[in-house]
Amino acid sequence: MTLVAEYEDNFSLCKLNLFNKPLANVVVIGAQWGDEGKGKITDLLSKSADVVVRYQGGVNAGHTVVVEGNTFKLHLIPSGILYPGTDCIIGCGTAIDPQVLIQELDQLEALNIPLGNLLISQTAHVTMPYHRSIDRLAEERRGERKIGTTGRGIGPTYADKSERTGIRVQDLMDKEVLREQIYWAINHKNAILDKLYNLPPLDPEEVIAEYSGYADRLRPYVVDTALKIYDAITRRRNILFEGAQGTLLDLDHGTYPYVTSSNPIAGGACVGAGVGPTTIDRVIGVAKAYTTRVGEGPFPTEIKGEVGEMLCDRGAEFGTTTGRQRRCGWFDGVIGRYAVRINGMDCLAITKLDVLDELAEIKVCVAYEIDGQRCEDFPSSSRKFARCQPIYQTLPGWQRSTAECRSVEDLPKQARDYLRFLAEFMQVPIAIISVGPGREQTIIVEDPIHGPKRSLLYADSTPARV
Ligand code: IMP
Repeated sequence: MTLVAEYEDNFSLCKLNLFNKPLANVVVIGAQWGDEGKGKITDLLSKSADVVVRYQGGVNAGHTVVVEGNTFKLHLIPSGILYPGTDCIIGCGTAIDPQVLIQELDQLEALNIPLGNLLISQTAHVTMPYHRSIDRLAEERRGERKIGTTGRGIGPTYADKSERTGIRVQDLMDKEVLREQIYWAINHKNAILDKLYNLPPLDPEEVIAEYSGYADRLRPYVVDTALKIYDAITRRRNILFEGAQGTLLDLDHGTYPYVTSSNPIAGGACVGAGVGPTTIDRVIGVAKAYTTRVGEGPFPTEIKGEVGEMLCDRGAEFGTTTGRQRRCGWFDGVIGRYAVRINGMDCLAITKLDVLDELAEIKVCVAYEIDGQRCEDFPSSSRKFARCQPIYQTLPGWQRSTAECRSVEDLPKQARDYLRFLAEFMQVPIAIISVGPGREQTIIVEDPIHGPKRSLLYADSTPARV
């Protein structure tokens, strides 16, 4: 069976009812540099999930959900909280800023959203005030080498975790331990604030008072979440593991050092939720029909000028967390193919196809040129990646609105050709296409959960190179 034939078959399967069968245990990850529209896809799948788990990242992430005219801005709590009966877990691999988490709880409570199904890991690490300050100050000190972090204290929280000096949720819950931990940590951090940044010291008593208050508010939700997840698995409940950020921001597999400090890739779900790899049934990737990136770092397909501005305007490319304008560029097939490989992706959801509607021509990066040599694969050397020049294949645009399309057949031929090209190039079926922010602006091409596993589907086929 060839990929093309299989993919064409898949295109005709668009009438499948996604919600009639059990979900299984699924990881949803970003296939680019974050902001791929994972929120919409997890919202779609959350309907069939019994449990939704956030496994990494912290309040650097963010998505806006609009339900019945109410707008929710969530950074840590999975959007599954809006479905009554869905358990929502903030796993041990996350970095929890209790101040922001409590604001989210208040926001949901004010709208009478029940919070009884929320669980918070007692082994997750806590973002402290000095993490936020050090994040911002360290960025200033980096000068030209700055990363462009969200300034939410994520890097310093994970740094303390690795250094084994972090404060965990369970420490918050015990007054004596919290006091002892905060005195110890602040003693050390004050030396850094003073000597490196010339700042006044933090008062440990103030921090203890603030964080004791947070502890009282969060206590009802704090449990051993890995045990709860295991329990759910043994009871055959469907679990959705929700990745934040994206593959190219992964600490180990992304564009280091321009990455976040956690592991957004599918493998991160095992560590950050506390489950074995054998429990994961499916990996669904989410990618935009073009590419965006926030913050610094190389971005070979970045478009500077009119087309880039147009993508930014039509795609409303401003961050939910920081409001920063996102850099925009053409779809990068090389990183797409890398994301398929590194995540063991079974299928892909392509979002924001409608943003490309007006273009006469659309480019896709199919290889890089590095120092005069053609390179087909994402280079793991960051120095080399910084020197990559994109080699493009140009495809015709469709110059028609796709926002009203509800099936593959409704899409203009050029749009179908564009998607087929991406799928063939990355060797991954496209299961979902999103043509706008509304829940109804979604085309289910094939069942993302119950279709054949990609790894089995393509095991005996030769990868097609463009
Ligand atoms: P940090 O996670 O705040 O340390 O930021 C590190 C890098 O990841 C910066 O380039 C950020 O812009 C980027 N980043 C962090 N979270 C997100 C996200 O949710 N979407 C897109 N980029 C992000």
